[in-house]
Amino acid sequence: MKNVLKIVAGLLGVLILGIIVVVLGLYFISNSDINKTYSVSAAAVEVPNDEETLALGQHLAESRGCTDCHGDNFAGGPFFNDGAMGTLYASNLTSGPGGIGGSYSDADWVLAIRHGIGPDKKPLLFMPSHEFWNYSDRDLGAMVAYLKTLPPVENQVPEASIGPVARALYLSGQLPLIPAELIDHTGPRPDAPEPGVTVAYGKYLATAGCVGCHGETLSGGPIPGVPPEWPAGANLTPGGNLADYTEEDFITTLRTGVTPIGYELPAEFMPWPTLGKMTDEELQALWLYLESVPARPTGQR
Ligand code: HEC
Ligand code: HEC
Repeated sequence: MKNVLKIVAGLLGVLILGIIVVVLGLYFISNSDINKTYSVSAAAVEVPNDEETLALGQHLAESRGCTDCHGDNFAGGPFFNDGAMGTLYASNLTSGPGGIGGSYSDADWVLAIRHGIGPDKKPLLFMPSHEFWNYSDRDLGAMVAYLKTLPPVENQVPEASIGPVARALYLSGQLPLIPAELIDHTGPRPDAPEPGVTVAYGKYLATAGCVGCHGETLSGGPIPGVPPEWPAGANLTPGGNLADYTEEDFITTLRTGVTPIGYELPAEFMPWPTLGKMTDEELQALWLYLESVPARPTGQR
């Protein structure tokens, strides 16, 4: 009996030691990625401040998802906050106390939004710059111009601390914790088609706004890196979830959050209140593009 107990205790010891080694390794490897410094010099983007540009910038900042994470007043808010995932807040973008707006240069804004890199040259965590990389100079310049005019709001967001589950998901490739790693920083700029009701412009909008959840091919399926209670993204390719939609249905769905069959889209998963602020022209271009992509079974990436 004593011997059996000894063996069990010994095995337990080995198991605990193994777990300690794995957790230490997890922290060691992910820390070196999180603290890596990037020597990227972002190409200068013109930031005009005429009224037309500021209005465009406001429209973009309010309709492209920034407020879903940074809050309606852009003063930041929790992204996740629990023991397993850790603590991560979207930054306060205003120039109020706790905000970054007062100290950011135009070049800092471009480096952060387009490259996912902070002024300290370290990667921004979870800030989806791999999608914003697609914004044209015109759109990015207008957005920065508007963000510089935000009314100051006081909000000190807590320092980020990434927990063991987030690190394990990141290291197993299931969580885009460091979007800067997904960007070809010195690669050619993506196409910047003229705004208009065209397939090319619709593709531009979808690439920066829908593929993050609906997938590279827009065929939907499980969304990488989100908590298990999230529904799968809808299949937006022809013959998929929008098979019985007309263009008008599509626009109404994004504006009201109610689909043609009367289903109310949950705004915490499908951000229709922000995406629905797109103009008619933008939504028409998106629809045109969605109708032009190859049909695919749901979830085929
Ligand atoms: C999915 C959530 C999410 C969305 C959408 C998002 N952000 Fe962020 N953003 C974050 C998080 C989280 C951080 C903090 C990253 C960190 O602390 O490392 C951040 C950081 C930033 C920073 C760097 C601030 C600093 O602390 O130095 C800027 C600038 C920024 N975001 C601008 C934007 C703009 C502009 C948009 C819309 C085009 C946007 N973000 C959309 C989550 C988001
Ligand atoms: C943050 C993630 C996210 C983003 C970004 C997003 N979607 Fe969605 N979308 C979802 C999810 C999840 C569902 C399914 C919701 C459900 O089943 O309850 C959905 C459902 C939809 C539906 C309803 C389909 C149906 O079943 O009738 C449409 C239409 C849609 N999305 C269009 C878009 C378009 C167009 C964009 C880009 C402009 C976009 N979505 C961006 C997550 C997202």
